[in-house]
Parts: sequence; C-alpha cells; structure tokens
Amino acid sequence: MSSVTVRVPAKVNVQLSVGPLREDGYHDLVNVFHAVSVFDEVVAKESESITVSVAGDWADQVPVDDGNLAIQAARALAKHAGRTYGAQLVIHKSIPVAGGMAGGSADAAGALVACNELWGLGLPLEDLMEIAADLGSDVPFSLLGGTAVGTGRGERLSDVPTGGQFHWAFAVAREGLSTAKVYAECDRLRETAGVEVPWPQLSEPLLAALRTGDAEALGGQLGNDLQSAALSLRPDLSDTLEAGRRAGALGALVSGSGPTCAFLATDADHALRLADTLSHLPTCRTALAAHGPVPGPRPS
Ligand code: C5P
Repeated sequence: MSSVTVRVPAKVNVQLSVGPLREDGYHDLVNVFHAVSVFDEVVAKESESITVSVAGDWADQVPVDDGNLAIQAARALAKHAGRTYGAQLVIHKSIPVAGGMAGGSADAAGALVACNELWGLGLPLEDLMEIAADLGSDVPFSLLGGTAVGTGRGERLSDVPTGGQFHWAFAVAREGLSTAKVYAECDRLRETAGVEVPWPQLSEPLLAALRTGDAEALGGQLGNDLQSAALSLRPDLSDTLEAGRRAGALGALVSGSGPTCAFLATDADHALRLADTLSHLPTCRTALAAHGPVPGPRPS
C-alpha cells in the first residue's frame, strides 16, 4: 500500500465536569465526548522518514516540527512496533486550531490509524488507544468517535448509546486558547472562591437525553466546568453565547477549553440558520453547522 487516507471528526463535550487538581498536574474528569461532522483528513504516504505538511484554512497555525501531534503519534507507533518506519503525513485541516474541538488530537488519531495501515502493522484498536493516551487526554476519544464518557484524565472511555442525530452550530473565535491556561484559570477561580471542589459525577438526565435522542432535554443538560475559566480569559465569548441563545439554540456552551462555542439546534436547517447568524458576529472568525454522533477514523 503506497498511500492511506483517513477522516477524523472533531468533538464537543456535552458534559465536562472537572474534579480537583491532581498531583501530576491533571484533573480527574467526567467528560462526555460527542464526535461531530467537522473532519480533518490525514493522508499517510510511503516515505523514508516521518514528515508532516498541513493544508487548509488553518495551515499557518499548525506546527510542522516535533511539536506536531501527528508526527509524535507516528513516531510513537513506530517505536511500539519496534522498527524504523517512514511516512509523509499530509493533513487537510477543517477543525479549528486551539479551538476546544480536539483538532490536534484528531490529527494524532488519524496518523495512528493511517500509519497502522500503511505499515501493515494490523494493531488492534486497544493497542492504538494505549499509545493514544500517552499522546494526550483527548486522543483516545478521537480514535473511538461516536459518543463516550471519559474518566481519569478523560482517556478511560466507555461508549454511550444515543438515539438518533443531534444538530449543532459552532462559532469559531478569531484566536485560539491554550488548554493548559484554561485549566489553570479554572484552578485560580476556584482557589479565589475558596470552594471545595466536588468529585465529578456523570449526569443521569444527560445520559437519558442522549439515549432517547431528545435534543430539547439535552439542551437543558449541557454543562462545562471550564466555561467560566474560558469566559474569564475571553469575556467577549458571553456575547457569542447570548447571540446563539437569542437565535433559538436549545442549549449553548463553550466547547471543551474553548474558545469555540457550541449551540444545539432543533434540526439541520436550524443549525444552518444558527451558523449563518453567528458568522456575522464581530467575535466570530467563522461558523460551522454539523451533526453528531459520527464514527471515528477508519482507513480507506
Ligand atoms: O492531555 P493534554 O496534553 O491534552 O492536556 C493539555 C493540558 O490540559 C495539560 O497539560 C493540563 O494542564 C490540562 N489538563 C488537565 N486535566 C485533564 C486534561 C488536561 O489539567 N484531565
């Protein structure tokens, strides 16, 4: 095989409950991931060494050196296989960079699946998931897709059944946010408030809404403990959230660590209308309409 192409979805967190800061610098989470139909494409071609190039809207913001998570993923896979392999990785980016939609994690997951196929390793998903967890907390979910609850750092996953499709609009901010900085701001706000941080709990009403495909109920259950930290760093995001609510969104929240804001729509048409409204906001670089859940990356 001389070339393998995979499409990898973005995610939104429909519940993100953040526990106390751990000694290793991470937080225990209850993180309900939901994969949506905004895709990066990762192509792996035969090559002597592991390289990456990036095309698409966001290309200028993605590193192509050792800081690129897809390169790290390909290297980790080669190391796991115990051999020196090469791959020329080409990423076509549509997922916002540093946007809270796991774009970097998607590229890493895509590189794992594509190189596993290109190199004929035939490793099962469980092995790829283990390698993924070392690359970043969200990478295992990017391999899995669908809807899943993540515990621990977010890397221990179990599938969540859903009844039907949900429709979303996403408002993409002009500038990204660093995940680490948003977690640090969350800790700072909590320390200032002097409140004891409860152990995160999975929301049963949220699970029921997902299971029955009830968008209105899901809209009322969306929750993100990182939202106040993202708003503290980017106060103008509250205008974005308010604009989506006024345009009839069933629920509105910051996606993961932000700054992308996610809006649950009543149907596909409503998602398109919401995206159109949001795209005209001065706070917004662009807006996207999408649906979920969608499956994780498979080679073609
Ligand atoms: O795992 P990942 O590299 O994506 O995490 C980026 C940063 O987000 C970490 O360095 C940490 O500051 C923060 N984080 C956290 N708790 C988690 C996941 C991420 O504090 N469960």
